Amino acid sequence: MDISIIGTGYVGLVTGVGLAEKGNRVICMDMIKEKVDIINSGKSPIYEKGLNELLEKNIGKNLVATTDLRNAVLNSDVTFICVGTPSKRDGSLDLSSVKNASKGIGKILSEKDSYHVVVVKSTVLPGTTEETVIPILEENSGKKFISDFGIAANPEFLREGIAVKDFLNPDRIIIGSLDKRSRRIIEQIYSNFKCPILRTDIKTAEMIKYAANSFLATKISFINEIGNMCKKLNINVYEVARGISLDHRVSPYFLNAGLGWGGSCFPKDLKALIYKAKKLGYEPFLLNAVFKVNEEQPQRLLDMAKRKIGSFKGKKIAVLGMAFKGGTDDVRDSPAFPVIEGLLREGANVTAYDPNAEDSAKEFFGDRIEYADSAENSLKDSDLALIVTDWEEFEELDFREMKNRIVIDARNIVKNRKGIDYEGLCW
Ligand code: UDX
Repeated sequence: MDISIIGTGYVGLVTGVGLAEKGNRVICMDMIKEKVDIINSGKSPIYEKGLNELLEKNIGKNLVATTDLRNAVLNSDVTFICVGTPSKRDGSLDLSSVKNASKGIGKILSEKDSYHVVVVKSTVLPGTTEETVIPILEENSGKKFISDFGIAANPEFLREGIAVKDFLNPDRIIIGSLDKRSRRIIEQIYSNFKCPILRTDIKTAEMIKYAANSFLATKISFINEIGNMCKKLNINVYEVARGISLDHRVSPYFLNAGLGWGGSCFPKDLKALIYKAKKLGYEPFLLNAVFKVNEEQPQRLLDMAKRKIGSFKGKKIAVLGMAFKGGTDDVRDSPAFPVIEGLLREGANVTAYDPNAEDSAKEFFGDRIEYADSAENSLKDSDLALIVTDWEEFEELDFREMKNRIVIDARNIVKNRKGIDYEGLCW
């Protein structure tokens, strides 16, 4: 199939490279020329495990990048919209990129005679494709949806850092459509994937994405709530999690208690769903609580640290991890940030270390904190260490150079707990 992808962020680029790897001819389009040039040189502008290898293998053969939207749409039969939908202050979505992409695609559809399917892969609230995308496509193409062009919703479930693996080995594929022709064409694209394909209407597909992320966030806030109680009962919540996870209805995943969730998706998607609920006149008590439990975890860590060392003023505090999770350089909504801000507010001297996210963190903290080039150098002469991101290298740390070997682990990642005053956030 001839496919074009609009937007080469981690969803667009992974989808484009993945579909090329699956034998399609793919044109990735982005407005940013630097990104396009990097991709055409066989390199990935973003870090995703395995992406560089697949990109290098396919580029110039059945994969090319361009800044030319017209070229991309005219030379493909299906266009995936994979642009960002960031949060606005009130939790609603900034749809400007989706609208611009729809407008541009619509204009080009007016020149096409052959049938073309537009697929919305960007995360948009239920109703957006029908209420916003289709009208813009029709207005700018002068054509009618279904009779002249097709539309589908195909949400992504990619985790940052393992997006290539998640794309090539999905648990399921969701195809939202309102007509058989569009659905059949998208089914054909995924015909060589080994997983269930669920066919729904468009807004159901849009809702599945939000329900999926909100449920995963709920699972984490749930085990954190149980963990906060276990802490007061001197119970290890990880043993409780093990006990419930043996029930096949629960599963062992997303029950790691700790500092909570961050990233570019959970906070944005939960805020958007809460916003939508309120717009519908429904008070989302549970979703609000999921947010609240998560928001309070960093303060719990700071309170625990205060109980351990008294005032932070003038103390050297090592913060290990700044990314929102291990395996990525992404610091968006990282729970490590409110922890660092809280330490700075009380006059601590913070030395932070993160194997991948230092540059991203520097944009926020500048010279307000010190940056160590290794975990050990961050720990040297420190009064306290806070482990806030689950990087594998934090499993085996050498705490001997610390002034006071007090360690609070907010990710249950530290394995060697000998010779230190170790405490877990929820265990
Ligand atoms: C998530 C969804 O998993 C993915 O399907 C969706 O497409 C995008 O959003 P991602 O945000 O990349 O993916 O990260 P994920 O691995 O889901 O972790 C999200 C956050 O939850 C991280 O901050 C992580 O540290 C935290 N987390 C995860 C926990 O605190 N406990 C857990 O058990 C699992």
